[in-house]
Amino acid sequence: MSLSVALDIDPGIDDALAVALALRSSEIRLELVTTVAGNGPLEMTTRNALRVLHYLGAGHVPVAPGAPSPLSKPFHGALEYHGSDALADLDLPEAQKEPDPRPAHQLLFEFASAAPGERVVVATGPLTNIAIAFQRYPEMPTLLRELVIMGGAFGLTGYGTGNHTPVAEFNIWQDPEAAAIVFGSGARIAVVGLDVSNDPSTALDSTNLAKLRAGVTPFSRLAADLTGYAVARHSVCALHDPLALAVVLDRSLFGFAEGRVTVHTAGDEQQGRTILLAGAQEDSAIPLTAVAAAVEGARFKKLFLSRILED
Ligand code: BDR
Ligand code: CA
Repeated sequence: MSLSVALDIDPGIDDALAVALALRSSEIRLELVTTVAGNGPLEMTTRNALRVLHYLGAGHVPVAPGAPSPLSKPFHGALEYHGSDALADLDLPEAQKEPDPRPAHQLLFEFASAAPGERVVVATGPLTNIAIAFQRYPEMPTLLRELVIMGGAFGLTGYGTGNHTPVAEFNIWQDPEAAAIVFGSGARIAVVGLDVSNDPSTALDSTNLAKLRAGVTPFSRLAADLTGYAVARHSVCALHDPLALAVVLDRSLFGFAEGRVTVHTAGDEQQGRTILLAGAQEDSAIPLTAVAAAVEGARFKKLFLSRILED
């Protein structure tokens, strides 16, 4: 029996690569995609989610738009990294399908409550939708088997410093209030932060790109075009979001440190800083958060490439 997964995303080059990996992974079934403003405005990330699923032959997966802006801070995109359409300016065909009319928080709650304790949400954008769902449905955190988050920089490795500011990772910086709500919710949480996703052994380079370019399926074509855009500009393509999904696919790729995560929410130079208080409150009913502190990069990339390159 495969595991039911929902992706809450802001595509985004690496979000799109996470969708592709999810669709090629038989351990899981992608049941729902929800979108959030992050790498681009909500309308753009929603359109991109629809276009990616359509291109990969998965137009049946529902796409529900969520929050157009963070809970209480202004929205800032990352188009300078991801391209003017947040998807590498690829000009992917339109999906010819409308997004689901129901809001993301409602569909996320229905997804979790359909099988209490069995389902996983992987969130690879700002945590606004998840925070709204947890606030509207206070039982939701305990209904999930696990919430896997791409976000944060914890100083657990030499790579665990900020990418948006010197101290903060983009997703958490964008909506720190949402992140604080989610980390304090009592949900069982695993986090992939820059500590591992900025480790160069997890990023695609020009040799990997050449392999992708030799592929013939929509999966390899899309991955090659997205990767090619990033490699041309930054010499590698970081796989932050596929790495978060990999926690669900093969947990043994990671080593984790456990504790409580705090988030700096004030709008000053520390905004979005994440700190792991290791091993705190062992006796509390709230589960400790597992933060990735080590990764087998070569084995992860092998998994990613072999699945994307399947015929
Ligand atoms: C995160 O920020 C976004 O730009 C990426 O899609 C990823 O989720 C990395 O900091
Ligand atoms: Ca993302």
